[in-house]
Amino acid sequence: MAVCFHASSPSSSCSSQIRTNRSERTSSHKLSFRRPKRRIGFCIKSSNGLPITSQVGSLGSSQEKAALDFEVEGGWQQDIGPTSEEMTISITVVGASGDLAKKKIFPALFALFYENCLPKNFSIFGYARSKMSDEELRNSISGTLTCRIDSRHKCEDKMEEFLGRCFYQAGQYGSEEDFSELDRKLRQKEGGRIAQRLFYLSIPPNIFVDVVKCATLRASSPTGWTRVIVEKPFGRDSKSSGELTRSLKQYLSEDQIFRIDHYLGKELVENLSVLRFSNLVFEPLWSRQYIRNVQLIFSEDFGTEGRGGYFDSYGIIRDIMQNHLLQILALFAMEPPVSLDAEDIRNEKVKVLRSMKNLQIDDVVVGQYKGHSKGGRAFPAYTDDATVPKNSLTPTFAAAAIFIDNARWDGVPFLMKAGKALHTRRAEIRVQFRHVPGNLYKRSFGTDLDKATNELVIRVQPDESIYLKINNKIPGLTMRLDSSRLNLLYSAKYMREIPDAYERLLLDAIEGERRLFIRSDELDAAWALFTPLLKELEEKKIAPELYPYGSRGPVGAHYLAAKHGVRWGDIGSDS
Ligand code: BG6
Repeated sequence: MAVCFHASSPSSSCSSQIRTNRSERTSSHKLSFRRPKRRIGFCIKSSNGLPITSQVGSLGSSQEKAALDFEVEGGWQQDIGPTSEEMTISITVVGASGDLAKKKIFPALFALFYENCLPKNFSIFGYARSKMSDEELRNSISGTLTCRIDSRHKCEDKMEEFLGRCFYQAGQYGSEEDFSELDRKLRQKEGGRIAQRLFYLSIPPNIFVDVVKCATLRASSPTGWTRVIVEKPFGRDSKSSGELTRSLKQYLSEDQIFRIDHYLGKELVENLSVLRFSNLVFEPLWSRQYIRNVQLIFSEDFGTEGRGGYFDSYGIIRDIMQNHLLQILALFAMEPPVSLDAEDIRNEKVKVLRSMKNLQIDDVVVGQYKGHSKGGRAFPAYTDDATVPKNSLTPTFAAAAIFIDNARWDGVPFLMKAGKALHTRRAEIRVQFRHVPGNLYKRSFGTDLDKATNELVIRVQPDESIYLKINNKIPGLTMRLDSSRLNLLYSAKYMREIPDAYERLLLDAIEGERRLFIRSDELDAAWALFTPLLKELEEKKIAPELYPYGSRGPVGAHYLAAKHGVRWGDIGSDS
């Protein structure tokens, strides 16, 4: 059962909680079972709205479990150990001077603080090699902190308060002494309280293991849990990813590793399971019987500006497809999980990932953007980037047809398309349903039955929305049909600002909710799908098809779709 503390007032919009997970390397739980029972701030809900049954599953003994069940059923607050006064959380952002930290992580932490989602006692440390004072760190991050649109009041005060809890420690990434110094400072701030420690690794992958080694050996929490959030890339292929996992596991248990894929924290990706499993109208249609094809589309209207160095050794398949799009696909196509428990969901994701057929090179198209001038403005080619070799074959665009070898999806093409420097910025899922058999109105659509396709579109960004294209009679005395949308546009329906994906994921990592993080066997299955393809592309030195910056991408993507009887949904009038 989830164990949590109210961070601040119980009326806070977030009612922050920190669970103690007994399977993690921590000594705090021992303490909690010796303490007398008492009523304190308590909630049994996880961020997905349900009790965390996995926490029960990870309890040490059946007596412990029974004791907790009894207490909760009896309406009595369980013995949850320390009060919010007695405990604290320390969050260390390793790589604090980097872009991701400044643009995403510190702002997300501030948003959580602003929404009262952080515990009462917390401190945040930036750790990086550059010499910087606490004040300099505060100045460097203050510009990127923003307040929620609907409650700006006291924003300035909150910012000041938040920045006052941010500190900086300069150190080498592979230096145990420097991490010991960090540990000393963390202890100072923790002031003898029971401390949970979260490390966010916002650093290049080649130093992951060094940092994890130093952080765990020298700066693990002596009293509470220690968790590490790792950002992709998790290796370049099955082999390197396996090595990384093995190296990390020398210092951490799987339960302590939170592999982040920020697309899983996006509101509409979160909503995918709600849509499927809490509406009668969708799930019965969710199979080869009614679905003709599924399209997962990611496009950006800018190139690799400034990130060419990183990007060139990865390419779009590793950067977007193998993780963001494949994760969405797994959630879309998995069988209903037994429960919302993280392990039940991740078990289903692994199963569907492992049911995917080997990707054939004939079912893949790669592209790279070339320079282009438009309206008197010149847009650079990918290889114009100073950090990219002139003869680079790295794809900035890829399209692929994936098939799932199981009873539900046999024969249904799942088409993925991801590209940089395209005409628009967009991420969406498009579900094209089969044609109506013996459609009485087919004459109204002429010969192009695709015009009558019911299509469900889940637009992840921008303009978050879910819409269903249906055929409708145009009002009037004649029988004319058109395709209309039943449209749930989030900005029209919900006044609240949509939280950034990093907010949700950070909160979940603090809470110990693993549902939105990638388990190591999921990662293995994802690499198993893409590694042979990547190897073949690289060994055969397949030249990408060039497409102009700002265009809709290589023509090859259309041929690929046509080969599988599909028309990209984002190309027609609908886009
Ligand atoms: C990252 C990729 O994971 O996701 C970037 O490395 C990409 O190349 C980014 O630009 C897109 O994220 P978002 O949230 O801006 O769509």
